[in-house]
Amino acid sequence: MGMKSETKFEKLVTFIKDLYPEYEKVPLHAPVFLGNEKQYLSECIETTYVSYVGRFVEKFELEIQNFTKANYAIATVNGTSALHIALLMAGVESNDEVLTQALTFVATTNAIKYCNAEPVFIDSEREQLGMDPVVLSDFLYKNARIGDDGFCYNISTKRRIMACVPVHIFGHPSRTTEILSICNEFNIKVVEDAAEALGSYEGANHCGLKGDIGILSFNGNKLVTTGGGGMILTNDKELAERARHITTTARVIKQFDFFHDQLGYNYRMTNLNAAVGLAQMENISKVLSNKRKTAQLYADFCRDHELNFFEEKTGYTSNYWLNTIFLKDKSERDEFLQYSNSRGVMTRPAWTLMPDLPMYRNCQQSKLDVARDLADRIVNLPSSFRSNE
Ligand SMILES: Cc1ncc(COP(=O)(O)O)c(C=O)c1O
Repeated sequence: MGMKSETKFEKLVTFIKDLYPEYEKVPLHAPVFLGNEKQYLSECIETTYVSYVGRFVEKFELEIQNFTKANYAIATVNGTSALHIALLMAGVESNDEVLTQALTFVATTNAIKYCNAEPVFIDSEREQLGMDPVVLSDFLYKNARIGDDGFCYNISTKRRIMACVPVHIFGHPSRTTEILSICNEFNIKVVEDAAEALGSYEGANHCGLKGDIGILSFNGNKLVTTGGGGMILTNDKELAERARHITTTARVIKQFDFFHDQLGYNYRMTNLNAAVGLAQMENISKVLSNKRKTAQLYADFCRDHELNFFEEKTGYTSNYWLNTIFLKDKSERDEFLQYSNSRGVMTRPAWTLMPDLPMYRNCQQSKLDVARDLADRIVNLPSSFRSNE
């Protein structure tokens, strides 16, 4: 390691430790419980409403609707199940193809496979770190055509391309408006993976609501957590009703009988999880503004120390779920990961690109040089709520 980068790394690690004096080992993103979590959980236990019946699921859904301005929100057991159902609601069937990005968390791609559909990987762009609308458009113009039935088909595989899943990675909104207009041209549904993007906006629109359907995650490392949980967001009433039905085993209430009118899933969130989520939502403004301040402090520090920090661009609002820097190359990235993690500051790289995972090795893909370059250089920095703010 060169002298210069060692000094730079040392200063950054010291800066991070000063940001988070409350932690001996600074985590990447720790959950915080600032309000009524315990009280609402006790209420569940005292009333015995711990499972699918109880007041918290509906209240939590309403809270998410109010916050995101979605017409409908359906709570699920996790973000992955929300994605699975969202894809089914978008009409994805066995042997269809679904476009997504190579640089994402594995759950995005797994959900496509759960529908027995084939993922196709598109490159990322540097502005917002999401799917590149230009590469998407080139890919479709070269490889797709609209069939007599009005659907889009992949010329070489002959499979129907039914949906596209852009992802707002680390909470930074992707260029959904452009992606949407290309997909509309090719009659492809857009399912937004906004798992990491609660509190992120493109213009005035909350992420997850530009496309046909979107999803959120409330996993323990997200800025609002329910332990495990997810949410389907949509403005379409009919779609929302179908999603609610299919996530509750497709049960039709007929007095005493158990009757299920189609293949359903046991994907509904429990009252216990929703109780935590509701309490968390009561403090969301506080959490978001705390995280924005942290991002600003990182931005200022990085500017003064020749470090390349990702900042939101005009027209986009990021929740700065995970603050992100770009190092020079993979070897500098690995040196910093080693340096910081061995000194009690948890940092991590971006995900392995999807086609580099064994189960997705043979999937069709666009050129992926930007995604590959980003994956080699990205480091996520500790981004938890700071209690000393
Ligand atoms: C981009 C992305 N998609 C999907 C998921 C899946 O969410 P969950 O872990 O709640 O199933 C996550 C996170 O965990 C994610 O980061």
